[in-house]
Amino acid sequence: MGRTLIAGTGRGLPERVLSNADLEQMVDTSDSWIVERTGIRERRIIAKGQTSSDLAATAGLHACRKAGIDPATLDCIIVSTVTPDSPLPATAVHVQRKLGAGGCAAFDMAAACAGFIYGLSVGDAFIARGQFKRVLVVGVEVLSPVIDWEDRNTCVLFGDGAGAAVLVPGGDAAGDRGLWSTHLYADGTMADALGIPAGGTALPASQETVAQRLHYVKMNGREVFKHAVRNMSRAALTALEHNGLTITDVDTVLAHQANMRIVEGVAKQLALPLDKFFINLPKYGNTSSASIPIALDEALEAGRVKQGDLLLMTALGAGFSWGSAVVRL
Ligand code: UT7
Repeated sequence: MGRTLIAGTGRGLPERVLSNADLEQMVDTSDSWIVERTGIRERRIIAKGQTSSDLAATAGLHACRKAGIDPATLDCIIVSTVTPDSPLPATAVHVQRKLGAGGCAAFDMAAACAGFIYGLSVGDAFIARGQFKRVLVVGVEVLSPVIDWEDRNTCVLFGDGAGAAVLVPGGDAAGDRGLWSTHLYADGTMADALGIPAGGTALPASQETVAQRLHYVKMNGREVFKHAVRNMSRAALTALEHNGLTITDVDTVLAHQANMRIVEGVAKQLALPLDKFFINLPKYGNTSSASIPIALDEALEAGRVKQGDLLLMTALGAGFSWGSAVVRL
């Protein structure tokens, strides 16, 4: 029955731009420090009242349109997010309602910055099993409410956004197009290196947790950096080996957009020139699980990638959780 195809992609980004110059007014930082250490120049921030499901629905609608399908005919909506509209119910059901896709399966999953690759893998498994024919996978994060805007170590890095892809069975006519493989990993011994300590069952919300600013992202940046370069590279190399490919077979790499120096480190490990990587980090910062699908949608729109191209995706985030995927578009 062929491989699972990415039939359409979309993105949903807030209009408001927060520049490095804006951040200079908020914390003790500078445009030159942020650009030099991260490559980020600006990021998008939601408007008051805007939610994860709003951005996700926009991304999903565009993905359905480009795939040429009516959202009402979706069989399943998978939303990868660590920033749901609320703890209950799943953000995916709000996306379903906003898309008018009533009745289909809809659920959230959390694998932080690796979430879109995990989502692709789960969606692909449903399709390969014959259970669903039209699966929408969305990566969405509204990180701005969980960022400590007084902490310069983290607030310069993240942004809000959503990206989506519609997955369908390729059929025999698709030839070697489609999702070739996904490789998924996690290391829970590193759970403390990046996370939001309070607001869950381990540390329920209280006046004390609020006073201690424990509802915000806390990160050991250097530790994340080290593991990101190492594990994103290893996962990418494993994917190539698994498919009997060499790095020269790859047209474009979509690496998680967290830090330009991480991407450069991965490029070095893969012995690839940087121009093989599609980069939109300067405009959006780190949008966690939305980063790869936003990049994919923009790369397609810009004609930087096209049907028939071989893509290698790799990402790492909180958990640590990480993974890679190989797709022939
Ligand atoms: O998706 C995964 C999510 N997370 C990541 O990808 C983050 C991975 N880590 C990183 O990207 C980098 O570790 C950072 C960008 C967070 C930090 O870069 P670094 O080169 O590792 O800097 P550092 O932590 O070693 O800090 C160097 C200095 C420190 O000052 P002292 O202690 O040397 O005086 C920091 O306090 O830079 C200081 N610093 C800043 N200075 C100006 C930290 N943040 C800032 C800032 N502006 N925004």
